[in-house]
Amino acid sequence: MTDVYDLIIANAENSAHGKGITLKIYRQLLSCGIDYLTMGNHTYSKQMINDHMDEMDRLIVPYNHEKRTTDNYYKIIDCNGIRICLCNILGFAFMTESNLEPYPAFEKILEETKDKNIDFYMVDLHGEATSEKRLFLEYFKKKAKIVIGTHTHVQTADADMIGDCAFISDAGMCGTYYSIIGRDIQETIDAYICKQPTGYSIAEGPAIFCAVAIDVDETEKIPVSIERIRIKPKEN
Ligand SMILES: [Fe+2]
Repeated sequence: MTDVYDLIIANAENSAHGKGITLKIYRQLLSCGIDYLTMGNHTYSKQMINDHMDEMDRLIVPYNHEKRTTDNYYKIIDCNGIRICLCNILGFAFMTESNLEPYPAFEKILEETKDKNIDFYMVDLHGEATSEKRLFLEYFKKKAKIVIGTHTHVQTADADMIGDCAFISDAGMCGTYYSIIGRDIQETIDAYICKQPTGYSIAEGPAIFCAVAIDVDETEKIPVSIERIRIKPKEN
């Protein structure tokens, strides 16, 4: 896969037992060929992240997370002569960890990076509401040529080129297919329907792989296509 794609980005906010990331997992994911990792509302779920932030320079955290402790909320990437600014922003709707709406958050990143010769911005907009993500794209489509939603774990069917912008409301998850967005099904029933005290168990079993592949015109320096990838386990 790493030979096919020039740049691979993954959202890793659930990679450490469903919540957060550790330095060990950060290194494991990069060793698989992922170039940069974005995060989300669970960025600070593992306490150790603040102890190792300096060692994780390929980790991009949400600008508008209420617990943000680092300026690593964007990264300028030179990819085949194209200068891409990768940003991570939280949605505001139904997102308790967000301390600023995504629109002023991105305005601040634009202002901060305006003199850095960026060809276009790629935003991981980590939020619940599909409408908020599409609104974000429509408002910023002169700058944010790639807007990829994450957080709901369920890949949406709206991947499309909106003018010269590549967009999807949610890229979907890579994780256990027979689960409640990754968590053990019976445990989730016990917790939410039967109101029983439970632990937090990651479901085990065959995995689904979700992603999007984006093709960029290297002359025009704009995306030209977006394709959904969704590989589910074979039925028994
Ligand atoms: Fe999330």
